[in-house]
Amino acid sequence: MTPGRESLGRGAIRAGDDVRAMFDRIVPRYDLMNRVMTGGRDVAWRRLAVREALRGRDPAAMRALDIATGTGDLAMALRDAGVREVVGLDFSAPMLEEARRKDAARPGGERVAWIEGDAMALPFPEASFDAVTVGFGLRNMPSYLGALGEMTRVLRPGGTLVCLETTPLTIPLLRRLFALYFSRVVPLIGGVLSGDRDAYAYLPASAAAFPDADALGRMMLEAGFARVRYLRLGAGTVALHVATTPTAG
Ligand SMILES: C[S@@+](CC[C@H](N)C(=O)[O-])C[C@H]1O[C@@H](n2cnc3c(N)ncnc32)[C@H](O)[C@@H]1O
Repeated sequence: MTPGRESLGRGAIRAGDDVRAMFDRIVPRYDLMNRVMTGGRDVAWRRLAVREALRGRDPAAMRALDIATGTGDLAMALRDAGVREVVGLDFSAPMLEEARRKDAARPGGERVAWIEGDAMALPFPEASFDAVTVGFGLRNMPSYLGALGEMTRVLRPGGTLVCLETTPLTIPLLRRLFALYFSRVVPLIGGVLSGDRDAYAYLPASAAAFPDADALGRMMLEAGFARVRYLRLGAGTVALHVATTPTAG
């Protein structure tokens, strides 16, 4: 059966507590696994995400929110780029603990506000941020559309969302090869490095259920964004979407 728009927007992963428990478990080797799985490219992808979030703005006057911040690399990269105020939000306390530890160990001490919270019900008033980023987080949420709706709510008019996420490859042969890498090799490496093969078996399942880049772009428009564009990274395996909220008036 072909999933309809509504079922695509609802998200494939339903049990939030299971997702949280899984992320809680993999914290100690999370950064290392990211570097290994992507051949170190994830660092450059996050840098690019920051550049897009800052485009056309004065970082010294910006307030930014990094949703599903995990161990905090994207949030810290926003601060490194000069963003005046950055909030990193995640629903996993151990992930946030690690983010805070890394932040505090850097020159200048803790420079990001780390907040425990659920992306499905953001603990911020409307129009609180100039930019929202989410890196490899949306895929894990129980409703993609609901999560995107929350992002539009907390963004100011003309605000920017930058979303980094895995995306299905468009060429069938490459898609099959990548599915093989994701479903066989990644859980194997994950099992060896993190001792938690199950967690890294979840990754391909959540990626397979995630909409393709065009469908995600349409969903962003449906959630209330006015303009959306995207580019592909990582030989087409990752999409970086940039969406802006309507300007006032
Ligand atoms: C794959 S990690 C990504 C971490 C980081 N953004 C990065 O780029 O490495 C996904 C993160 O999303 C968080 N997460 C998943 N669902 C969430 C939700 N509903 N609310 C808040 N955080 C969530 C998890 O706890 C986890 O830290």
